[in-house]
Amino acid sequence: MRQDPLSYLGDELNALKQQNLYRHLRVLDDEQKAHTSFDHRSVVNLSSNNYLGLTTHPRLRQKALEAVEKFGVGTGSVRTIAGTMAMHMELERKLAEFKNVEAVVVFQSGFTANAGTVSAILTKDDVVISDELNHASIIDGCRLSRAAIKVFPHKDVDAARRILQGLPADQRKLLITDGVFSMDGDLGPLPALCELAEETGCIMMVDDAHASGVFGKNGRGTIDHFGMHGRVDIQVGTLSKAIGALGGYVAGTKALIDFLHHRARPFLFSTSHPPAVAAACIAAIDVLLEEPEIIDRLWENTRFFKSGLERLGFDTGLSESPITPVIAGDSARAMKLSDRLFEEGVFAQGIVFPTVAKDKARVRTIVTSTHTREDLQFALDAFGKVGKELGLV
Ligand SMILES: Cc1ncc(COP(=O)(O)O)c(C=O)c1O
Repeated sequence: MRQDPLSYLGDELNALKQQNLYRHLRVLDDEQKAHTSFDHRSVVNLSSNNYLGLTTHPRLRQKALEAVEKFGVGTGSVRTIAGTMAMHMELERKLAEFKNVEAVVVFQSGFTANAGTVSAILTKDDVVISDELNHASIIDGCRLSRAAIKVFPHKDVDAARRILQGLPADQRKLLITDGVFSMDGDLGPLPALCELAEETGCIMMVDDAHASGVFGKNGRGTIDHFGMHGRVDIQVGTLSKAIGALGGYVAGTKALIDFLHHRARPFLFSTSHPPAVAAACIAAIDVLLEEPEIIDRLWENTRFFKSGLERLGFDTGLSESPITPVIAGDSARAMKLSDRLFEEGVFAQGIVFPTVAKDKARVRTIVTSTHTREDLQFALDAFGKVGKELGLV
């Protein structure tokens, strides 16, 4: 009988189980909302990136339904062959205007936007200077580009400067940071990094996945928040988090976007967004422009919840955004915290190594504009109870 050539995977999975790093997928039985049902349990949901409640917003739903009625469910092609519809072009025009740049290209996800862009614009002769906590899609893009990768400690601009001082002046360099770091909720030091990029002739790139719809005027992101318009050469945003649907985009000059049309592999080799997604994203930009009060509500909820966790005595790191980590230490403790909270009716996913350092395992909480005060107080009460049980507070 043939021996299973994949049997080693079972061994690897057993090792994960022994280290408390094995994950079960929680299954959502209802809509992606602030109060919903996972695994047949009614919970306050602190685990989605649905910052503004747009996954279920009536205007997005309606536009998506109309698009399905009119155009069907798929595009049947990549963008560069037969898969570009008028609504893809409209979405890109709208995003370019929203982000105050010359042009935008939309990708299938934020992940492909990062990986596809970095790998397209760099070669093996180039170098990337990257924050150690940058998102996996940036790291994969760097690897695919075959450029040299130089990592600086988190937010340490002086360390980035020292790396740059050791590089030949004529080498092409990309300086890259997340706008909001996804596991800690802190912000990239954009003003200092932009200055450094200008001093040293680097291309400056910011991944604003968690800032899109959250920071800046009407949710324009950290570039707007810090007043860095015109100083960041490549901005990446996502349509999968606060925008409520799916996708990523790159914002920059016409030449950058034109080049990505010709060289970014996910754009060239993977099918474009179905009509419902493109239509929902267009509607989402209108909502950001016309209903900015949902962003104000997000921030009111963020302040209420963060201060509640701090009052209870939890270690919440250095977050400056609606992402608030509750740091538990080792992975077993973080998973226990998450599991006990779930039993108490609160879903806050445990995040463990390799996503975060081994001794910084945590549950990650994200509040949304659609949580009620009762939802958030209920969650705080559960955190207080379970935190005491586990000796965290
Ligand atoms: C910082 C960051 N960049 C990019 C992405 C990828 O975005 P998307 O989910 O649209 O692929 C994520 C999502 O996890 C993220 O946190």
